[in-house]
Amino acid sequence: MRRKIVAGNWKMNTTYNEAMDLVAELKSSLTEEVVGETGVIITPPSVFLSDVVNELVDNPFIAVAAQNCHEQDNGAYTGEISAPMLASLDLDAVIIGHSERRQYFGETNASCKVKIGQALNNELAAIYCIGETLEERKSGNYMDVILSQCAEGLEGFSEEDMDNIILAYEPVWAIGTGETASPEQAQEVHAGIRAWLVERFGGEAAQDISVLYGGSCKPGNAAELFAQPDIDGGLIGGASLSAADFTAIVKARTEA
Ligand code: PGA
Repeated sequence: MRRKIVAGNWKMNTTYNEAMDLVAELKSSLTEEVVGETGVIITPPSVFLSDVVNELVDNPFIAVAAQNCHEQDNGAYTGEISAPMLASLDLDAVIIGHSERRQYFGETNASCKVKIGQALNNELAAIYCIGETLEERKSGNYMDVILSQCAEGLEGFSEEDMDNIILAYEPVWAIGTGETASPEQAQEVHAGIRAWLVERFGGEAAQDISVLYGGSCKPGNAAELFAQPDIDGGLIGGASLSAADFTAIVKARTEA
């Protein structure tokens, strides 16, 4: 079944104390009533993951994910973190191919494909990010760009693999800019992605894949985005650093 999901991407934000305070606040605000059927995921910086997982060990409502993993299991890659390391902390998922990773750290559709494989091999769900730049949007070619990211990043994965892959459409021009895609703009792309998924994996499987929207999603615009038929939830950056805002977005997803 297609799941409603709200994931918070903390990026390179919070100190240790801030992170643990935020987790404590989320633990009390994300009640059963607020969360309902929504899958809630938080993605703290990797150095805090172990303590965050321990803090949430008895909490049934909040899953924990990492922001990235390396292509290899281990080896001489100073500073990197592998999927087996993340799995050994009992994490639930990992974000792959966020546009900031693509833009600043040279990630490509091909490297994302390898990383998604690493995630699945280690029983971590992969949240695979796709989305066009402002230039690509203006050129009118954006759907081609997005569908190439889908085709190349998901090359070789099966219908069964898709049970553990979540897609996140994040137009780069909307990330951290305060400029959200309108619900119609987002729905147009989500419907295009869904049509591609139907062609690639078959109608039944495609209906079960969650496709999230990300890019300046906030309490004030979440409900209208989540009301769109092909938007299954959100990947939230800035607003996930406030327990009140993130909780309001989860509530909007649960109630939509
Ligand atoms: P934003 O970030 O909500 O701050 O725009 C979204 C993301 O990059 O995942």
